[in-house]
Amino acid sequence: MKILLIGSGGREHALAWALARSPTISELVCAPGNPGMAALGRCVPVKSDDAAGLALLAVRERVDLVVVGPEAPLAAGIADKLKAVGIACFGPSAAAAELESSKAFTKDFCRRHAIPTADYKIFTDLIRAKAYLGSREPPFVIKADGLAAGKGVVIAATRSEADAAIDEALFYKKFGSAGETIVIEDFLPGEEASFFALSDGKTALPLIAAQDHKRAYDGDKGPNTGGMGAYSPAKIFTQAVQTATMAQIVEPTIAGMAAEGRPFAGALFAGLMISPDGPKLIEHNARFGDPECQTLVRRVQTDWAALLFAAATGRLHEAPAPAIDPRPCVAVVMAAQGYPETPLTGSIIRGVGQAQALEGVEVFQGGTRIDEDGLLRAAGGRVLTVTAMADTLAAAVQRAYEAVDLIDWPGGFCRRDIGWRAL
Ligand code: AMP
Ligand code: GLY
Repeated sequence: MKILLIGSGGREHALAWALARSPTISELVCAPGNPGMAALGRCVPVKSDDAAGLALLAVRERVDLVVVGPEAPLAAGIADKLKAVGIACFGPSAAAAELESSKAFTKDFCRRHAIPTADYKIFTDLIRAKAYLGSREPPFVIKADGLAAGKGVVIAATRSEADAAIDEALFYKKFGSAGETIVIEDFLPGEEASFFALSDGKTALPLIAAQDHKRAYDGDKGPNTGGMGAYSPAKIFTQAVQTATMAQIVEPTIAGMAAEGRPFAGALFAGLMISPDGPKLIEHNARFGDPECQTLVRRVQTDWAALLFAAATGRLHEAPAPAIDPRPCVAVVMAAQGYPETPLTGSIIRGVGQAQALEGVEVFQGGTRIDEDGLLRAAGGRVLTVTAMADTLAAAVQRAYEAVDLIDWPGGFCRRDIGWRAL
């Protein structure tokens, strides 16, 4: 099987690593890929937001399967374009990807299918939105409807903070068209976990849960990021919680999307609040998480190419349940100084090979490049993900930081407390 993998982050390097180990793959093409992925497949410089260019590439390369890493090409309809030319795609249609690209769609969908989530109301009108706050209790949760690169959610402790967040979206258009509609929802108490399942549009196959660290600095301080680290398993995500999540959230989502004529095929990433009365949906994403995926590929022991092909072709019911390595995996993200606001690129990174040589360690690359001098340099915000597996979470954390310490990169930083909640 020849596979085209779309994307260039740590998540995609991890997927490339998993696919390259598959006995059923003959060739891996990556678009656009990164230097880490270039060691596993052939990289072609088509950007991951160029849905038409990617579909053309898939046809030209005669691939059997396209695996889509990030959300942007999904929302732009890459799966629909591939379907039109008869190429299997792991990743949902644009209509099904609305589970991620429209929070208003997803909230109304949850209401239609009795999926547990916070109470909410949808607004396009500033005066009505502000008036609604008067009937709710703080903290208020204000969300831009569309894709806002993880920056579209404000948790406002006071009415005036909430008013300001409403103004930013609806009056100042801080998120452009993505914020012309907002969702105001009730604050959910509890601990968060990310749960991943696969679907082919009909069958839902549970994978595993992980917990990530969204804030930039130690102690969950600093600005929100795409994710600074993750670990799996998530202690609070017990078998009972998983059973409830499948029955109350994942299965009704897959069945509901099929019933509404937008079958969801791909990775369903349920962002959950584990509340005292069970799991509640915070948000759905239509793809794997980054850096959660870097822990998934290490713990989920399966032929990833065969599994993703089964999901892309409606045959997930025939796929054997993947074996899960019980050992914990920790992922520490190393980001360029200045991330998330203004990451400084171009700094030289040494020692990845030494780190990689440690037992239980895999280093995945994200925003990296190799210049003509042959040196690895930072080329984006999140640059490396150092993953480690060991018999205990504490040992995995220790091993991951031993590897981090072997990486000689003054231009980068990482959190030193990944996994603290579970330790
Ligand atoms: P989202 O992009 O919808 O996942 O929101 C980003 C983050 O905001 C989540 O990971 C939560 O930490 C927080 N959040 C979102 N909605 C809620 C809610 N209703 N109650 C509490 N925290 C929330
Ligand atoms: N780490 C969270 C995400 O991928 O959205």
